[in-house]
Amino acid sequence: MFKNIDIFTDDPIISVVDEFNKDSRKNKINLSIGIYYDNNGNTPQLKTVGKAKTNLNKLPAIASLYLPIEGLYNYRLAIQKLLFGFNSKLIKEGRIVTVQSIGGSGALKLGADFLHHNFPNSEVWCSDPTWDNHISIFMRSGINVNYYPYFNIKNKEIKFTQLLKTFKKLPKKSIILMHSCCHNPTGSDLTQSQWDQITQVVKNRNLIPFIDVAYQGLANSMDKDVYAIRTMAKAGLPLFVSNSFSKIFGLYGDRIGGLSVVCENKSDYELVFGQLKTIIRSIYSSPPSNGAKIVEYILTNDILRNEWLNEVEFMRKRIFTIRKILFNNLKNILPNKNFNYLLKQYGMFSYTGFSPQQIKFLRDEFAIYIINTGRICISGINEYNIKQIINAFVAINN
Ligand code: LMR
Repeated sequence: MFKNIDIFTDDPIISVVDEFNKDSRKNKINLSIGIYYDNNGNTPQLKTVGKAKTNLNKLPAIASLYLPIEGLYNYRLAIQKLLFGFNSKLIKEGRIVTVQSIGGSGALKLGADFLHHNFPNSEVWCSDPTWDNHISIFMRSGINVNYYPYFNIKNKEIKFTQLLKTFKKLPKKSIILMHSCCHNPTGSDLTQSQWDQITQVVKNRNLIPFIDVAYQGLANSMDKDVYAIRTMAKAGLPLFVSNSFSKIFGLYGDRIGGLSVVCENKSDYELVFGQLKTIIRSIYSSPPSNGAKIVEYILTNDILRNEWLNEVEFMRKRIFTIRKILFNNLKNILPNKNFNYLLKQYGMFSYTGFSPQQIKFLRDEFAIYIINTGRICISGINEYNIKQIINAFVAINN
């Protein structure tokens, strides 16, 4: 019955975690998956999440009922404020549709299904390289996937001129999938002036921008990291935004995120909202409640919200400090090599440019696991394992 079905091609990120877990070496180091680790190599529960859980548990016990198809109202509103700003005119005008989603991946899937159904001739353009799951999600929704130039592996710079040139030639209503901040996998982000230029091209060419934001607050700040989203929204562009709270709330297993769509007017809003509800109902009926209640509790309470902002800021600073320590050490040992990229990249990831052989060497000789594109997760580095990592980098670069 099943002999002709496709063979499972393992996931390039999750499979590395599986192999890491199977490795019995005591000194093994996991720099693969994008998870925040503290200096002890643990992923802590955020204090604000702990407080929210405690307080939610104090509420009178009730049955776990179905949420509305689109998710919790205040949770959805909180997402809009975080992404578009507290005083966003678009929120006041009721022009943003936001639905609760099963993580950021779920939001991408809802957006991709919506686009495939309503714009069947549109193809998507992803950055080269991009997060592997972007490609799978859009492909499995039936959308053709193409790539726009993004990153020069040799000099580790963004190929902005080529990117813009490509966008200027795209057919109308092409979908362009972009990373708001902490580009995954390169860590190389566009500047504000580059986003301004892209916004202009998107407008002139009538493209469909789709911005994915999974690391808001981990590059520069909660507001600066969504510059692209606010700029495109202000420019009056119809815009798709998928957001994830896995990393910035440490709610990886709760699978909690959202999809927002900026509409031109109220009647478009009703159409888009209705279609998204149709899609949700036909895939999983309605979303799970746990993660949304926690995030809603924190984001709608001024004190907890500020405490949470400080917790994200702490993660951001720790990641940047590791970058600096790694950079200083490598520069001292190998003064003729250029490690500036470590300081210029943002967020959890750094793109080393290591070849498949070098990646295998890291794993075999140093018990260090990184994914096959050469991306490393900076937050997996700590004061106890950094020496081993530096030795490995030096061995590769010598
Ligand atoms: C990553 O890129 O490592 C994370 O976003 C986790 C995942 O699901 O791939």
